Amino acid sequence: MGTDIKAAVLGAGMYVPPKVVTNDDLAKLMTTSDEWIVARTGIKTRHYVEGETGAADLAYEASVEACRNAGIEPGDLDCIVFSTLSPDYNFPGSGVLLQARLGAPGVPAIDIRNQCSGFIYGLSTADAFIRAGQYRRVLVVGSEVHSTGLDFSDRGRDVAVLFGDGAGAVVLGPIAADEGRGVLATRLHSDGGGAKDLWVEAPASRYNPRLTHEMLDAGKHYPAMNGKKVFVNAVRAMPTVVGECLAGAGLKIGDIDLFIPHQANLRICTAVQEHLGLSDTKVFNNIQKYGNTTAASIPIAVCEAQREGRLKRGDLLCIASFGSGYTWAAALIRW
Ligand SMILES: CC(C)(COP(=O)(O)OP(=O)(O)OC[C@H]1O[C@@H](n2cnc3c(N)ncnc32)[C@H](O)[C@@H]1OP(=O)(O)O)[C@@H](O)C(=O)NCCC(=O)NCCS
Repeated sequence: MGTDIKAAVLGAGMYVPPKVVTNDDLAKLMTTSDEWIVARTGIKTRHYVEGETGAADLAYEASVEACRNAGIEPGDLDCIVFSTLSPDYNFPGSGVLLQARLGAPGVPAIDIRNQCSGFIYGLSTADAFIRAGQYRRVLVVGSEVHSTGLDFSDRGRDVAVLFGDGAGAVVLGPIAADEGRGVLATRLHSDGGGAKDLWVEAPASRYNPRLTHEMLDAGKHYPAMNGKKVFVNAVRAMPTVVGECLAGAGLKIGDIDLFIPHQANLRICTAVQEHLGLSDTKVFNNIQKYGNTTAASIPIAVCEAQREGRLKRGDLLCIASFGSGYTWAAALIRW
């Protein structure tokens, strides 16, 4: 693998559907309140799709913007990496749907199923392809449509209030290592022992038939979560994987200019920030507006941080995630 090449972010883009849903809107559907949701999660609003809109449709908008900001045409891409837990269909994956809409003829489309860590898993994959010299223009997109798959009754209120729809994308390309920019380190982890702590059980290939009326009545097709276990594990794992990444790049916590945690829950983000000892000026959160958009949360936040002047050329960006799987991951990028 060539060590003289790094993968730099050439451009970023994001898209959220126009419909805004407030906590008061959700309180009309289930027993909850703005006070409860804000106190436990920090979330004030989230965006939901309308009509027949899939993850690939949101991804398309974010990807077009990322290509524009990278100064390339979608047809110049030579690889697509698509991370989502809410694919348009069971198969084929959303990557090929995006490929067809972008008009990038024949380019490979890889689907990543690592939920909240999906974007960093995708970034790490793209980084390896570029450093190996296999591809030169790799789109990494995270996109989710949660709103069509949530249980808006009291049974599902712990999960339904958390999630929102949206997409974020980056275009990565090769850059000479001596320029100092690019992906400096990535670290990926999983522990399937926690698989059932945040999951959607059905439809499932291990059941025959995969989906029954009984499963639907029991709500097995909705996400189910052990919120407390996810919370505790997230707060423990994210600082650790950030430390591994820093050690791998020969850097220290004080070198980080901006930390963007996966936007799972503001309380998780704040607890991780405290563990790492980072000041508010070095952390970017926007879950208040979008809720948890899973694979899309980090690229959406990256995009907004850049727009707001919080992320500038030469800054050391650290991103980290924890979520369903369990999976957790971090990356360091010299912007
Ligand atoms: C989901 C979460 C906010 C719940 O907060 P919590 O402090 O653990 O709350 P609890 O689970 O103890 O629930 C407290 C009560 O609120 C109720 N409750 C759950 N959801 C509610 C809602 N939306 N509105 C009002 N009450 C709710 C519970 O039923 C429970 O009631 P009970 O005491 O009568 O049984 C929290 O566990 C969490 O954020 N976990 C991590 C989830 C996450 O980030 N997931 C994504 C990871 S990528």
